[in-house]
Amino acid sequence: MVYNIGLLGLGTVGTGTAAILLDPPGRSPLIAALNICRVGVKSLDKPRSVALDPACLTTDLEAIATDPEIDIIVELIGGTERARSLILMAIAAGKHIVTANKAVLARHGDEIFTAAQKAGVYVFLEAAVGGGIPIIQPLKQSLVSNRIQRVTGIINGTTNYILTQMQEAGADFADVLAEAQALGYAEADPTADVDGFDAADKIAILASLAFGGRVRYEDIEREGIRTIGKADINYARQLGFTIKLLAIAQWDQPQNSLHLRVGPTLVSKHHPLASVNGVFNAILVEADPLGQVMFYGPGAGQGATASAVVADLLNLVALLESKGEQPHPMLHCHHDHYAPITPIEAVESRFYVRFLCGDRPGVIGHLGTCFGDAGVSLESIVQIGYQQGEAEVVVVTHDVQEGHFRAALTAIHDFEAVDDIRVATVLRVL
Ligand code: HSE
Repeated sequence: MVYNIGLLGLGTVGTGTAAILLDPPGRSPLIAALNICRVGVKSLDKPRSVALDPACLTTDLEAIATDPEIDIIVELIGGTERARSLILMAIAAGKHIVTANKAVLARHGDEIFTAAQKAGVYVFLEAAVGGGIPIIQPLKQSLVSNRIQRVTGIINGTTNYILTQMQEAGADFADVLAEAQALGYAEADPTADVDGFDAADKIAILASLAFGGRVRYEDIEREGIRTIGKADINYARQLGFTIKLLAIAQWDQPQNSLHLRVGPTLVSKHHPLASVNGVFNAILVEADPLGQVMFYGPGAGQGATASAVVADLLNLVALLESKGEQPHPMLHCHHDHYAPITPIEAVESRFYVRFLCGDRPGVIGHLGTCFGDAGVSLESIVQIGYQQGEAEVVVVTHDVQEGHFRAALTAIHDFEAVDDIRVATVLRVL
């Protein structure tokens, strides 16, 4: 069966989503079951980088939301009021929803999920938090045997970029913000990011999944990063901390209640979240009995967010296909062929080799020649020290085919005039 998609919005994420759907080789075979039927846009005349049939495009988004031909609405217009109304309209018309819109879910989730439950349709939202990082599905499925204790996230890339730059360049908030705006990392109106609204939307969603209850947006304590100065960053560093905008949802045991907050926080430089820098996001989940598990990756951007949108679409197709007699296409094993394996000689990697050899003229030159003749480019070659009267020479290669590398080692070994060269260790370098 083919499922017709109505795509609302053809901006950055919409374009990325269409690009994946129009380029299926190497992806899940279920992608063949998805057809972009109609696309809602602001302007019909704008040049597009994806090869969509212009006849699919319309500026009438409401007509898409209610079109009886469409099975799934992908809402990527952002914002709250119009998105809410289009989603509710589509749900009332019996369509499943995939959305990347954290604000509409955090603020109108109660209404949307009640309507979806009543209509018997799914609302999938992997792209709404953490861009391409899988966190919604793990909270819904992989972690369900656990009692979640705390979710701590760096879930706003803009503020993490600003704080990282302040830390690295010793710069002031206002200067870094202006630079981030010039580079396109921060919006012209940065309020949603720097005042913590975006992170609050996202932690509201994560909390309701992790702790199994609806969350009122106004119950989240929220503070942004505008007040953080160079002096705070420096003192924090001297004390062994870094400052991060953390979004926290924590189950308080004695009170049996939830605490939710977003705010700049000192994080020990040894904490796993301390090394999450720049526009990257990470979510640390603490759970019983699992312990700590961290999800890390690109929290925004075209490809990353579209990857999550399309994953939701494919999961939806799998669910719909598994109704009736068919097993769930993603949960049962459907491969009947062996994956082709790359021969080891063709695999590329960097190598570290430690040689033990006589300390005399020409040895390093000989090593370099053998590697060069085999087409192995070297990143470094150094004589480090002595080991029981022999010199130690360490070589690190660039990325090379293993076959070439092994041929060089054989040539080094075979060369009779230098038979006092021995390989002590060979390791791969990541
Ligand atoms: N503005 C968000 C951020 C990305 O800076 O992380 C979209 O959620």
